[in-house]
Amino acid sequence: MLSEQTRTIIKSTVPVLEEHGTAITTVFYKNMFEAHPELLNIFNHANQKQGRQQAALANTVYAAAVHIDNLEAILPAVVQIANKHVSLGVKPEHYPIVGEYLLKAIKEVLGDAATDDIINAWAEAYGVIADAFIGVEKDMYEKAENQQNGWSFFKDFTVARKVKESENITSFYLKPSDGSDVPTYQPGQYISVRVSIPGDKYLSNRQYSLSQASRPDEFRISVKREDDNDPAGQVSVFLHNQVNVGDTIEVSAPAGEFVLDANHTTPVAFISGGVGITPMMSMFETVATVTPERPTAFLHAARNESLHAFDKDIQKYVATMDNANYKTLYSEQPQGFITREVLEEMVDVTGEVYVCGPVPFMEAMITELRALGLTEEQIHFEFFGPAVALQTV
Ligand code: HEM
Repeated sequence: MLSEQTRTIIKSTVPVLEEHGTAITTVFYKNMFEAHPELLNIFNHANQKQGRQQAALANTVYAAAVHIDNLEAILPAVVQIANKHVSLGVKPEHYPIVGEYLLKAIKEVLGDAATDDIINAWAEAYGVIADAFIGVEKDMYEKAENQQNGWSFFKDFTVARKVKESENITSFYLKPSDGSDVPTYQPGQYISVRVSIPGDKYLSNRQYSLSQASRPDEFRISVKREDDNDPAGQVSVFLHNQVNVGDTIEVSAPAGEFVLDANHTTPVAFISGGVGITPMMSMFETVATVTPERPTAFLHAARNESLHAFDKDIQKYVATMDNANYKTLYSEQPQGFITREVLEEMVDVTGEVYVCGPVPFMEAMITELRALGLTEEQIHFEFFGPAVALQTV
């Protein structure tokens, strides 16, 4: 438990740290990677190269510090971030390094204003927050490891098949290279893929949703090929161009909290934009095979027909289900957007809704669904990219 004095210091300095957020984050990453370049094997270094700094980490430390007496209140956000950490192989020994460079950055940016009392208070608060993450992540690693066919950290997988799904989305079917089966996973979960790209001395990690229902012998991910000139897209371009059947890539165990409860039988709607369709495929296939009588709507937005993945697969499942509706809208055609009217027509407002896609798409869908009377509990969503995490707590 932190002392009253420490808590007062933390609470009074949060606004100052937030105000200098960008400067602190920039100094933090620069110094940390200079001293520990090996961490570039874990962090997305394409973002770093582009100067697109990852402010989420530091902001979350500040936000968590505000709730320092009641970290339980922010547990959902901690769990979501911890899933990401575990998927990337973040370990307890990394926490003191991050803590050290975060505190040094605060001191460097604030200068004399960062008194010893302030720095000590933040060191103490960081320790409490780090312990909370380490504890949650330890449980997750243990659970992953103890599951049948489970493992923690990374494991070699072989590409068994590579299937083009649309102009820019290709599926990779992945089997453990040691010939074992894969653990069962919940529809909506993701894995991290770790690859060594020629010419890049650090490993690159990316998360991809598993895009088919859980089955014993393989995973499937479906990767959108990003722009060749976008450094953030380099893993997708590498996978599309250079990873072929028979090649080996490293894969981490399934993680993530944006999941479908496969036991529910109440109405469900899946709403996706672009490559946001991938977790929906896993969820939809699960419903189609486990509870085919469940009232189900599949609503998808794509730019045009050539970029529309999985159309035939969805139609095939719909034909075998008792009560399923499917509709795709192409935004490059007139009236090709998912409007409130379309949602009203397709979505049963008494059921659950899963939304996944680019941020503006998700924001628009969530706003419209709320306007139709759906509650927070009914709407499940996953943003691509860094989670907005604690800002919403
Ligand atoms: C991502 C918070 C410690 C490595 C994140 C995100 C948050 C966060 C909010 C974004 C989550 C998302 O994208 O969904 C924190 C907090 C920490 C902490 C509050 C300390 C208490 C660490 C440590 C490491 C680490 C010790 C490892 C050295 C990463 C990586 C990502 C990430 C690699 C993915 C984003 C990227 O590649 O840039 N963290 N983190 N974090 N964190 Fe942490």
